[in-house]
Amino acid sequence: MAGDVKTAIIGSGLIGCGWAVAFARGGCAVSLYDANAEAAKQAVKLLARLAGELESAGMLDGQTAAQVTARVEIADDLDAALGGAVHVQENVPEKLDVKRAVFSDLDARAPRDAVLASSTSALLPSTFTQHLDGRDRCLVAHPINPPSLIPAVEIVPAPWTSAGAMDRCANLMDRIGQKPIRMKREIDGFIMNRLQGALLQEAFRLVADGIATPEDVDTGLRDGLAPRWALLGPFETIDLNAPGGVRDYVARYGPMYAKIAETQRQTVDWTGETLDRIEAARRAKLPLDQIPEAQAERDSRLVEMMKHLGSNTKKS
Ligand SMILES: NC(=O)c1ccc[n+]([C@@H]2O[C@H](COP(=O)([O-])OP(=O)(O)OC[C@H]3O[C@@H](n4cnc5c(N)ncnc54)[C@H](O)[C@@H]3O)[C@@H](O)[C@H]2O)c1
Repeated sequence: MAGDVKTAIIGSGLIGCGWAVAFARGGCAVSLYDANAEAAKQAVKLLARLAGELESAGMLDGQTAAQVTARVEIADDLDAALGGAVHVQENVPEKLDVKRAVFSDLDARAPRDAVLASSTSALLPSTFTQHLDGRDRCLVAHPINPPSLIPAVEIVPAPWTSAGAMDRCANLMDRIGQKPIRMKREIDGFIMNRLQGALLQEAFRLVADGIATPEDVDTGLRDGLAPRWALLGPFETIDLNAPGGVRDYVARYGPMYAKIAETQRQTVDWTGETLDRIEAARRAKLPLDQIPEAQAERDSRLVEMMKHLGSNTKKS
């Protein structure tokens, strides 16, 4: 728990509210600011829903949703949100000019020792912090939606980010129960989107080449690889899949994967006829107007799964 810490959340949309609940559950005092007063009002409802879902699932470490949301205040202006904050988490829209302008404001107005973290999905931290006097305290802390449920967070430095800022951010994430991944340097896609992108390339390839239907690919992952991957990462997985561990696995299966890799060198066109086939398969299973219902069902099943995995993720 991090009861001695105040965090400021800038932008109170989906991700801002998810972070507010994650920090508040971890004991932090949270001040939430949004440039749009209407969005800030909506945030109160979203915070209550996110915390309520976690309470129902028993995922608030014995606290009630009301206790958690009571630690979140809606700030009237940016300065009120930033006052006394040791960690600032920015969650404004994914536009470079908006991030640059917001970071200029944050660097000018946040306490000098506060870490300034962006939730950006894909912008490299160097692209919106280079111009700042306090650029050494700026970094990316990229969550998976919603951070109140999914623990992994990628901490990404710009070339000028100090080791101290990286330490302070990673330590705070640890204290509130997130799983920080401390990257050595920035790269497009960070870690998780690079892994996901590699898998999607192959999924599109299998359909484009007529090897498998979109349903076959989903079955292979959902009912094949993913159950194990919910428990173990890829290196942990292969370490357990040969009697002599990871080195033995590479000796046994490395040549097979090298042969496969020879056929994976070309990137695949995700558009055109391939996309037509994938879209037709998806719409046959799920009409467009039923997507919100399917999202809600996914989210409630995800809560159940994370509840089950809780003890596992805490150990690793
Ligand atoms: N949605 C996801 O799945 C996801 C996952 C990980 C990271 N992210 C990243 O998180 C960030 C926020 O995404 P989101 O989905 O929460 O967006 P969103 O549109 O739901 O929320 C953005 C909020 O920022 C507010 N805002 C705009 N300009 C502002 C300013 N100058 N100062 C303060 N508030 C301002 C808007 O009023 C809005 O409420 C983006 O960078 C996005 O890439 C999103």
